[in-house]
Amino acid sequence: MNAQHVSTVDLATLLAGLTLEQKVSLLSGLDDWRTQPIEAAGLPSIELGDGPHGLRKETGVDMVWYPATCFPTASALGSSWDRALLRRVGEALGAEARAAGVQVLLGPGINMKRSPLCGRNFEYLSEDPVHAGELATAYVQGVQSRGVGACVKHFAVNNQETSRRWVSAEVDGRTLREVYLAGFERVVTAAEPWTVMCSYNRINGVHASRDHWLLTEILRDEWGYTGAVVSDWDAVHDRVAAVAAGLDLEMPGNDTANDGVLLAAVASGALPQDAVDTAAARVLALVGKGLPARAEPGTVDTEAHHRLAREAAAQCVVLLRNEHATLPVDRASIATIAVIGEYAARPRLQGGGSAGVLPTRVDLPLDEITAAAGDTVQVRYELGYQDLSRVDLAGVDGTVREPGAAARDRDPRSDEDLVADAVRLAAASDVTIVYAGLPLSAEEEARDRAGIDLPAGQEALLAALAAVDTTLIVVLSNGSAVALGPWHERCAALVAGGLAGQGGGWAVAQVLFGAVNPSGKLAETYPVRLQDTPSFLNFPGERGQVRYGEGVFIGYRWYDATGIAPRYPFGHGLSYTTFEYSPLRVRVSDPDAGTVEVSLTVSNTGSRAGSETVQLYVGDPEAAVRRPVRELKAFEKLHLQPGESQRVTFHLGNRDFAFYDTGSALWRREAGEFILAAGSSSVDLRAQAGITLPDDPHIPPLIDDDTLGGRP
Ligand code: BGC
Repeated sequence: MNAQHVSTVDLATLLAGLTLEQKVSLLSGLDDWRTQPIEAAGLPSIELGDGPHGLRKETGVDMVWYPATCFPTASALGSSWDRALLRRVGEALGAEARAAGVQVLLGPGINMKRSPLCGRNFEYLSEDPVHAGELATAYVQGVQSRGVGACVKHFAVNNQETSRRWVSAEVDGRTLREVYLAGFERVVTAAEPWTVMCSYNRINGVHASRDHWLLTEILRDEWGYTGAVVSDWDAVHDRVAAVAAGLDLEMPGNDTANDGVLLAAVASGALPQDAVDTAAARVLALVGKGLPARAEPGTVDTEAHHRLAREAAAQCVVLLRNEHATLPVDRASIATIAVIGEYAARPRLQGGGSAGVLPTRVDLPLDEITAAAGDTVQVRYELGYQDLSRVDLAGVDGTVREPGAAARDRDPRSDEDLVADAVRLAAASDVTIVYAGLPLSAEEEARDRAGIDLPAGQEALLAALAAVDTTLIVVLSNGSAVALGPWHERCAALVAGGLAGQGGGWAVAQVLFGAVNPSGKLAETYPVRLQDTPSFLNFPGERGQVRYGEGVFIGYRWYDATGIAPRYPFGHGLSYTTFEYSPLRVRVSDPDAGTVEVSLTVSNTGSRAGSETVQLYVGDPEAAVRRPVRELKAFEKLHLQPGESQRVTFHLGNRDFAFYDTGSALWRREAGEFILAAGSSSVDLRAQAGITLPDDPHIPPLIDDDTLGGRP
């Protein structure tokens, strides 16, 4: 058989011709990245590679990588709210993977941002499952359009890094369905990712890698998933239980004892041979899909991908605050700009860990600001603070390559001197742009953050600069929410630049000087204090358990329900233009089926072209269970010229009105009133309407016992 042309028919024949030993060998990898080949049957390996915002392919030396385009991280891409952009980034990622001979790209990551403390929040899109599921769908479709498989991860309820391999997420059934599984459901059913990666953690006591309910009953039986389930790296603890549960491919696969364990279990009857056959068939099908994509070195247009990285980063920038239209900076009215902060010279591009990418090139913010400021404005720089964590994390920022190099580069001045020099420069400048943010050590895999404040050195710097007579503009480089100190009230403008990859430096400079009109919106609430966050008392848990005590009230759902004011709400982001929303037009086309069309017109009433993301929220004020005040159900990013209007129509279905009733194991839409609200953020609601729907006739009426979950 020609290994390059394995068709579906061939796969069936191939499977039938394999011995049990050969089938079993397929169920774990050959090494860290490749599947097991079966040379006798002409079956090659395929290769998997991280993921998610750029290809991380090792050179052969552990944790040393080939250069690849470092696109904005998922948290930054999430704030674009732009499906078309996610699709294009996915296509580019797929093309780079394909060129490198990687057949499965290990992304996107779509776990919910339950707490800003999660060290991997930079790898995740959102605190909302509809938002994450929609953007991930576009990303997966983009990657897979290039003949490369995507891998949706980490399935499921992997919302912290503390004790990630053992911690049990204790979550009630309704919260699981409505929040933690809903994003996965959306992308699995809409985009058919080639693979799904099970997570490290346990869910209600059971490791995801051996959870039959999760991997078979939910994923396959309910959602109809036909692709392969891959383990997270070293997430399997019970090999036999994992295969029986529906785990197809264990990665990495350098433990040959594994095969013996499975063979013995089949021999003793502890594991039905069917389970091995089924998993082997799925791995074969995956290898079959991956085969056409062999390495095509040199086929990536690196410059074009850098331009896309810039464009993508520009769509992700969120303008949080802009007092008296400080931004864009008016070059004609100023002579001097102070740029302050280590991250202006050595930008934070991304977080650390398996998602780290070695960028093909990096736009430095200081250079980009200097270029954008033009010849008539003098730009001067001061360090302001130092990020000492970068000493140990050389490499992934693209500017420091050798371990130890950063240590040697340390500026010998004390923190006080750095602040004093920065203050002197700011006082002598018309405008001061400070690059602040989180150190790389606060945003990396395998550990969570200890708090949400900026590092003390940066807080001291910002406090000192807030007292200076200059126009203070602060740019944040962070992959998750931060608390903003008292300086916040004094800054004229605040820009969330995110961890926006290798084009982020360019993108923010374009926003600062107005070549790009910002259009990003937060996909994660910024709290005033850590104590205000929904999981504050229940994160990261204790003694191996973390209780999801806030239930479905994650993110904005919590702030809306408790009345705790966030610093910046979910969905918030300003523009240099203004948008007007018309009243809603609502048409209930089939009340029994809950089919509803909601439309409105959005007009650009300012003088610049700009983009607005219209967010549609649904609330069910009276329900048998406590429901969020409103939940995001649809959104659309519109691009509007000055004076232009566009009509947008959202199509809602039954599920958009339903809650998950654990007792009857059904999605339940109750009769009564629902509130539809179109907003520019989750709190800036511009148009609302109420509708009344009947009970869903397909679902038996609710009885008290249903909601107790007490029925067998
Ligand atoms: C991470 C995954 C990653 C894998 C391979 C694991 O530790 O959790 O997200 O894809 O390693 O690097």
